[in-house]
Amino acid sequence: MNRRSFLNKIWIWIGVVAGIEFLGLSLSFLVSGKKRGERHNSDRLKVIGRLEDIKPGEVYPYSNGRLYLVRHSDGGMLALSLKCTHLGCSIHWNEDEDKFICPCHSSEFNRFGDVLKPPAPHALDTYKVIVKEGKVMVDLDKKIRRRKFEKSDLTYA
Ligand code: FES
Repeated sequence: MNRRSFLNKIWIWIGVVAGIEFLGLSLSFLVSGKKRGERHNSDRLKVIGRLEDIKPGEVYPYSNGRLYLVRHSDGGMLALSLKCTHLGCSIHWNEDEDKFICPCHSSEFNRFGDVLKPPAPHALDTYKVIVKEGKVMVDLDKKIRRRKFEKSDLTYA
C-alpha cells in the first residue's frame, strides 16, 4: 500500500465515523421530542419541601447548592441565591448572628438578602417561589436581580 492510498483510507474512515456520530445525534434529537433550548418543567422547578415542614422564622439551605429558602415569621417565603453580588462567592448562613456572610471579602446580608456590609453592591438575587398542592418549589430559570428587598418579593401560601 502506498502513502496516497493509505491516506485515502484514513479519510474514508474519518468520514464514516463522523457520519455515524451525526446520525446518532440526529436520532437522539428526534427521539427526545424536545426543541433545542426547551426544558421540561421538572428540569427547572425544584421541589424544596412540603409547606408544612418549612417553619416560619427558619432558613433552609437547598441541597443543590444554589439557594437558601427563607420563611419569614409572617409566613412569607424568599428563595435567595447564594451567590454574593460582589464577585460571586458562595455566602453562608450564620444562624448565631442572623445573617449571611461571604467568606471572600466579608460582605454581609440580612435574611431579606439586603446588604448589611459592603463591598456587595446590591441585595442578593432571588428565584421565583411557587406553592402548589402543598409543595414549595423554586423556578431555577427565573433568577430575579434587585437593588433591595421589597415586600412584593415574598411569596405566601
Ligand atoms: S465575593 Fe462576596 S464580598 Fe467579594
